[in-house]
Amino acid sequence: QDLKAFYTGMPKTELHMHIEGSLEPELMFELAARNNIKLPFATVEDVRKAYDFSNLQDFLDIYYQGMGVLITEQDFYDLTWAYLTKIHGQNVVHTEIFFDPQGHTDRGVSFETVITGISRALEEGLETYGISSRLIMCFLRHLSEDAAFATLEQALSHKDKITGVGLDSSEQGHPPSKFERVFAAAKEAGFLAVAHAGEEGPPDYVYEALDLLKIDRLDHGNRALEDDALVQRLITENMALTVCPLSNYHLAGVSDMRQHPLRKMLDLGLKATLNSDDPAYFGGYMNENFEAVVEPLGMTREHILALARNGIDASFTSVVQKQELQ
Ligand code: HPA
Ligand code: ZN
Repeated sequence: QDLKAFYTGMPKTELHMHIEGSLEPELMFELAARNNIKLPFATVEDVRKAYDFSNLQDFLDIYYQGMGVLITEQDFYDLTWAYLTKIHGQNVVHTEIFFDPQGHTDRGVSFETVITGISRALEEGLETYGISSRLIMCFLRHLSEDAAFATLEQALSHKDKITGVGLDSSEQGHPPSKFERVFAAAKEAGFLAVAHAGEEGPPDYVYEALDLLKIDRLDHGNRALEDDALVQRLITENMALTVCPLSNYHLAGVSDMRQHPLRKMLDLGLKATLNSDDPAYFGGYMNENFEAVVEPLGMTREHILALARNGIDASFTSVVQKQELQ
């Protein structure tokens, strides 16, 4: 109980959150009505009932369907503002947000519409709530290398608003190597890089993310624990992992939170952080993710502080500062 007061009151960072994954069913209905889109659900309860996933692809199918209600710049603003309001209430003071431009441009919504709506909310989030933020543009890995290059091209005229590139969507069968050239071009253009790896995919994909994509931070990385040499390398390189407990519970086969690897990661000396991934789909934001692991894993105040410290240290704001000091 004491610990709950500690982590809820603690200033927090969030480094792994897909803004489209923060679309709550209530807002989904509101935007559907506003845009004359017919949803395959009658009520908010029906939507929540459909959020019963057995793996990543199961979730992604519903996630891409859900984002179909996002059409106008105002929709993207409203989505982002709702997220910022929510996390302000949870004492999150810095957030690094993923967005999936291809999930929108492939439906005829322009890159400009997406980035302008999200960025306007982020600017107001700083003014109104004092929340600092960064944007990370993800490539959908189930799509082609060419499509990723076309997306990178569109991002270049918005470089002032985007700090990094990432890689998400269906992991199995779409190894990081598929995007080696795109990431090289993105790094050349000055973007930082992250990638989802080892969420469902094997440790080999984590090696590829390190060696071929030259990532600055690893998203998930859970399956790295299957390879001792890889664990040692992540520790030596001080590579941060953005771990998402409730997401793992719903998608990645962690059926009992007492088996979740987060505490083990910290105890091994890995630089693990705690994040919500897709809070509207997996049952919670930052505080709910802390709640999901702290007691089941017997975590202490020191574990919680380590997560907070790692979040600050692994933030792109810290990474950029460290690069400038070199
Ligand atoms: N994994 C991969 N891709 C995603 C996720 C995820 O958890 N959420 C949104 N896109
Ligand atoms: Zn994710």
